[in-house]
Amino acid sequence: MVLVIGPRLSAAGGVAITGVDLAAPLAAEPKARILDAFRDHHIVVFPDQALTREQQYGFARNFGEVEPSGQAGSKRHAVAHVISNLDKDGNPVDRSASPVGNYRWHTDKSWHSVPPLLTMLHAIELPPAGGDTEFANTVMAYAALAEQTKRRIAGLQVVFRWGSSGGNSIAATRNEPPVDHPLVRTHPETGSKALYLGNHASHIRGMPEAEGAAVLGELLEHATRRQFVYAHRWRKNDLVMWDNRCLLHRAVANYDMGKYRRVMHRSVVKGTVPF
Ligand code: SIN
Repeated sequence: MVLVIGPRLSAAGGVAITGVDLAAPLAAEPKARILDAFRDHHIVVFPDQALTREQQYGFARNFGEVEPSGQAGSKRHAVAHVISNLDKDGNPVDRSASPVGNYRWHTDKSWHSVPPLLTMLHAIELPPAGGDTEFANTVMAYAALAEQTKRRIAGLQVVFRWGSSGGNSIAATRNEPPVDHPLVRTHPETGSKALYLGNHASHIRGMPEAEGAAVLGELLEHATRRQFVYAHRWRKNDLVMWDNRCLLHRAVANYDMGKYRRVMHRSVVKGTVPF
């Protein structure tokens, strides 16, 4: 097999890699090329990968410690976990209005003190059309800000709390303490500055809550302008991995969620404390 890296998929990022079997152990050379592509394009698409949940977990292990989806020793521990629009009886349901759903722009687990480096999703069941995932490049968004805005937001800390976003909160329904992260974070590998915000960004430390929420709202609107966005249109057995340190993402509610099934397998690799 010959690993082939395709052209960039959009101005905002994305690249497809073929000629590699993710179910097999990854040798040093293809791994280095995948990591270079990941650093340069932020979103890597591997089409046509038929993987079990165990094999996906094994592939994710190449990039660091994988967050467990079950207790150590449990059957669900060393496998990718399932995310879907199905209820406990396996029927499709529309959860797009949930304030904590994946349909709002977010970066994964931003309310953790050590949020993940990368997430990967593997498409198992898809609706006949739609069910896309969109990614917004927050390095490009930061770079496009006016110098005056960059000065205004330099050094600000965002208070992230699960369920608390821009003045609306259901945080009390879950016991997750708030954490502070820099609004402008530095990518540990490239040194680029990126905006860090999205759903679960509650307010800005030291600023009246409403004022902080307004600043976050304005920046989120800016960061998700179409020129910063790559929309991935899934095909069955695509595996997509993305860099949570420089992207926002959301599932797009562009299919009949109460009618069609959408099932994905997900793995999350631990990152480092944002700075
Ligand atoms: C996620 O937000 O991690 C999943 C996005 C999706 O289901 O498209």
